[in-house]
Amino acid sequence: MTAPNHLFLPAAHRFQWLIAMVFVCISCSSKGGSDTKSQGKPMAHAGESMAAQSAGSMSAAVMGKPSVGKGPRAAEKTAQYTVKRVVVAVARWGKIYRENTYILSDNSSRDAVIIDPGKAHPDIEAHIKSSSLKVRAILNTHGHFDHIQANDHYRKLYGVKVYAHKVDRHFYGKARAPDKPDVLLDKEKHLSFGTLHLRIIAVPGHSRGSLFFLCGAHLFSGDTLFLENLGMTFTDKKATSAQKMMQQIRGIKEKILVLDPAVTVYPGHGPKTTVGHEKQFNPLLNRQKKKPRAIDY
Ligand SMILES: [Fe+2]
Repeated sequence: MTAPNHLFLPAAHRFQWLIAMVFVCISCSSKGGSDTKSQGKPMAHAGESMAAQSAGSMSAAVMGKPSVGKGPRAAEKTAQYTVKRVVVAVARWGKIYRENTYILSDNSSRDAVIIDPGKAHPDIEAHIKSSSLKVRAILNTHGHFDHIQANDHYRKLYGVKVYAHKVDRHFYGKARAPDKPDVLLDKEKHLSFGTLHLRIIAVPGHSRGSLFFLCGAHLFSGDTLFLENLGMTFTDKKATSAQKMMQQIRGIKEKILVLDPAVTVYPGHGPKTTVGHEKQFNPLLNRQKKKPRAIDY
């Protein structure tokens, strides 16, 4: 049986984490422990400050509320937005992959987007119907099979367009159902879908076109950032897996860990977390010696 091309074999996985940890330690040492010093003191990036402030002000509704762990299996409602997670089972290579499909909606306008529809699931349509949501778009954090297979199902059902990063387009068109995106994103920007305003953040590594979607205090991370772990990377013609992992770690530190610590992170697999939790406890983003948490695929 052919090994899944976006999942790690155990030995390779261990080797990659070892390389990554060595790099993190060297990086931290050469900066005189700057990561430790920057805890609670966001780095100043001209392009980040506005978004960080924006996320900070909107995150007041979830401040003080533990956001790490399971959920939201039931819809999670804050003052302005609702996030519904539906875990879908995507079959490939004789295995079942459990992927998180999210529906993000504005509580006032009912405008909504579907993020990473890995497979059509009745709970997705039931939530949209029962909440009287108006689906405005489908967004893909990246082009791996387990995040895109129901693109066409929901594109036709709701008459909306699919958005994805341009450099991930080679992943599309391989499944039986047409899954190709309608809109190819080529740079970081802000997009509005009705009253939903999303900031698109590119952090290459897991795939070259991996994106984060930030809306208020809700951050959708795809497979780039998990609870106390990171999505794996793969060798290609341009870079080794270790080089891509370094790029991914650097991107997360520069673009994600500068956000408000209370921002909730919704990964493509497994439980949710927060920016603050990952900044403090993700062993691949700081100098802790513990193992990365197992990812529930
Ligand atoms: Fe992936």
